[in-house]
This record gives sequence, structure tokens and C-alpha cells, in this order.
Amino acid sequence: MSLDTTVQTREQVRIFVTGSCDGLDQLRDALERHGEVELVGSSPGVRESAATLTGGHLQVVLHGTRSASLPVDEIAAIREHTRAPIILLASGEASALLEEALDSDVADVLLLPQMTENVVFSVRKATKSGHRVTGVGSPARRGRIVTVFSPKGGTGKTVTSTNLASAFAKYEGKRTLLVDLDLQFGDAAIMLGIEPEKTIYDLVVAPGELDSEKLAGYTTRHASGLDILPAPVRPEDAELVTETKLSRLLEVARESYDVIVVDTSPFFHGPMLATLDRTDELLLICGLDVPTLKNVRLALQTLELLAFPQNRIRVVLNRANTKVGMKRSEVEGALDVKVRFEVPSDRAVPIAVNRGNPAVLAESGSDFAKAVRSMAKALQPAEAAKAQKKKLFRKG
Ligand SMILES: Nc1ncnc2c1ncn2[C@@H]1O[C@H](COP(=O)(O)OP(=O)(O)OP(=O)(O)O)[C@@H](O)[C@H]1O
Ligand SMILES: [Mg+2]
Repeated sequence: MSLDTTVQTREQVRIFVTGSCDGLDQLRDALERHGEVELVGSSPGVRESAATLTGGHLQVVLHGTRSASLPVDEIAAIREHTRAPIILLASGEASALLEEALDSDVADVLLLPQMTENVVFSVRKATKSGHRVTGVGSPARRGRIVTVFSPKGGTGKTVTSTNLASAFAKYEGKRTLLVDLDLQFGDAAIMLGIEPEKTIYDLVVAPGELDSEKLAGYTTRHASGLDILPAPVRPEDAELVTETKLSRLLEVARESYDVIVVDTSPFFHGPMLATLDRTDELLLICGLDVPTLKNVRLALQTLELLAFPQNRIRVVLNRANTKVGMKRSEVEGALDVKVRFEVPSDRAVPIAVNRGNPAVLAESGSDFAKAVRSMAKALQPAEAAKAQKKKLFRKG
């Protein structure tokens, strides 16, 4: 065996194909020829393949089904033999199946016919989540990254991120980290009334490998329960927070926190791009004024050029109730994207900013606080996971 072949074999994902549905035979033949997977075997019936399913050290099972609803018995039969992630393959009308699969022990659902590359992509993805399967239907413990961005200064990024992070920690009971990525002039700590001893700069210049324990030594706890990693104290220190350092930081943070809220500056700099690569939900803050609208439109185009998935963008209309001769529908028309959240202008906000206590906590009965709390609720993983799975249920 040549070195090349050895390397290729090592990288292949071991799959097994069971069940039947239209297009499955063709897909199986295509997968057999595909270099990234190793087809260990295939059989229409689960029982006949029990030995391979049990002893095959399989990484993924692809199961074709003709059922219009979730084939609970077929899945249970596979589960008797292996804990490998299952990808369901269906043909025809299967919307009930999709709906039921959302909360089930199924890694993905694909509707055939499907491009082989899409299936291989899904297989690779399933192997990654497969290591973290903690029980039937329970998703992996991996923090979500919510990035708050706007291409214009003063639109309410820091107000939104500090209040949202406080709401996640205080009202949703989430282990929350707020990262201030407005590296030169970040003021998230001030808005929270915190005078930090350590900042993101101290963390990235500290010697040694970064891990969760080390991260914990550089964060500051706020009364709401959130941890903050503030921006560097001196603007010139910003450049030491490199793309590579930030990538590692976010990966580590995901292991220890449920949610990581990232406040940003109005620029697409290196660390911001590293953050976008890992962002689960991008809150794009917009206001009811023409210059902001123009820049948000440009930002949407840039995000498209960066291949940032559009379904992760949530437009937030800040100060939505201000009477300035522009309506929500006009914003949506100009951006060609729906507004997902509205946050009202509220006197409580500037007062809270000056006191260093987020309005969502200080004025919990205000309209602003209610809007932020419902945003925090809507950004829960369950909803996001459903949206994600719907996206994956695509026709080839
Ligand atoms: N919903 C709101 N109601 C009332 N005031 C608000 C609201 N949102 C923001 N503000 C006010 O606008 C100011 C600017 O907001 P913020 O600092 O969050 O903007 P930013 O986008 O982070 O700006 P920068 O780009 O400079 O960091 C705040 O100090 C606050 O007083
Ligand atoms: Mg700011």
C-alpha cells in the first residue's frame, strides 16, 4: 500500500447504508466510488446486517425510508446495534418526517435525489457531532456564539450586547461570556459598571497554551452572573489580539459557556472575520436613519461576499418606536431582509448607561427590558437548532 493510499484510507468515514427509498441505489453506488467514505456494507433490512452494524466500528449509518413520518421502529432497530449517528434519506413528501426528526435521535434528514457531495458533507458533519452524543435527542454541549454587529458607530451594539448578555445570565440561567471585540475603544465593561483588572489583551499575551482554566483566570464576573472579557485598556494593544489568538479563544470559550456574546466595532478586521467564521447568530443592528440603512445594506453585501450564511443574520431595529418619518417596512424594503427583532428607544437606557447598570436589570419593567428579554428567549438553541435542521433538509 502506497503512502498516498494509507493517508486516504485513514481519512475515510466508515458508513453503512440500510433501508430503501427511491434513489438510494444510485446514491450507494456513487458513495462507493467516493474517496472520502468507505462503504462498509449495505442491506435493505436492519436485521440481516446486525453483525456488521454491531462490529463494524461504523461512524455513520445512512438509512433510507419510505415512511412519510419518522420511522421510529426502523431507528430503534438500528440503535439495538450501534450508537453511530443516523442520517435519514427520504424521497417524496416528507414534511411530517422532517418535523418529527427535529427532536429525535437523528443527525440529519436528506431528501433524494441529492448531490453526492451534499451527502458526504452531511456525513462528515454527523461524525463531528457523533462524538458528542449525550443521549437520545440531546444536542452537544457547545456554546453558541451570538455576534452583535453594525457597520455604523453609535447604533446600539454595546447597549444590545451588554443587555442581552445580562438577560441570558440573569433570566435564562445561561453560563454567559461577553467578549468585547471593539478592541480599540470598547466600553462594554463601563456600561456594566465594571473596572476590570484583566482584559483580553492580558489573556492573549500571557505565556502558555490557552484552555478553559486559563480563560477563567482572565474574566470578570458581573452581578447578573455573566463573565466579561473586556477590551484592552490601551488602543495600541489591540493589534496583539490576532485572528489566530481569537479563534483559539472562541473555541475554548465554547467548551465552558452556553452563550458567548461578542460586541464589535464597525469594521471587518481579522479577529472579526475569525468570529464570523464561528458565529451562530449575527445580530445586525439597524436604525431608522438613511446613513445607517445605507451602511447596513453594504454590510449585507460584504457578508454575502464573505459567504456568511444568510440564515444566521437577524436584523435588529433599534430605537424602533422613534418617529422620524421612516417605517419598519421601508427598512425591510431597502435591505430586502425582514427585521427579526425590534428594540424601542427608552429613556431608561441612557440613564442606565451612565449608572453602569444595564437597563434590562435596572429597569426590568421597561419596554426596552421586555424587548431584550424576549430576544434572549428567542435566541435559545432549540429554536436555532430547528432553523438549522430545516436548512439541512434541502433538495439536491
Ligand atoms: N434603545 C435605545 N434607547 C435609548 N437610547 C439608546 C438605545 N440604544 C442605544 N442608545 C443610546 O445610544 C448610545 C450609543 O449606543 P452604543 O454605545 O450601544 O452604540 P455602539 O453601536 O456600540 O457604538 P460604537 O460603535 O461607538 O461602539 C448609548 O450610549 C445609549 O445612550
Ligand atoms: Mg460600542
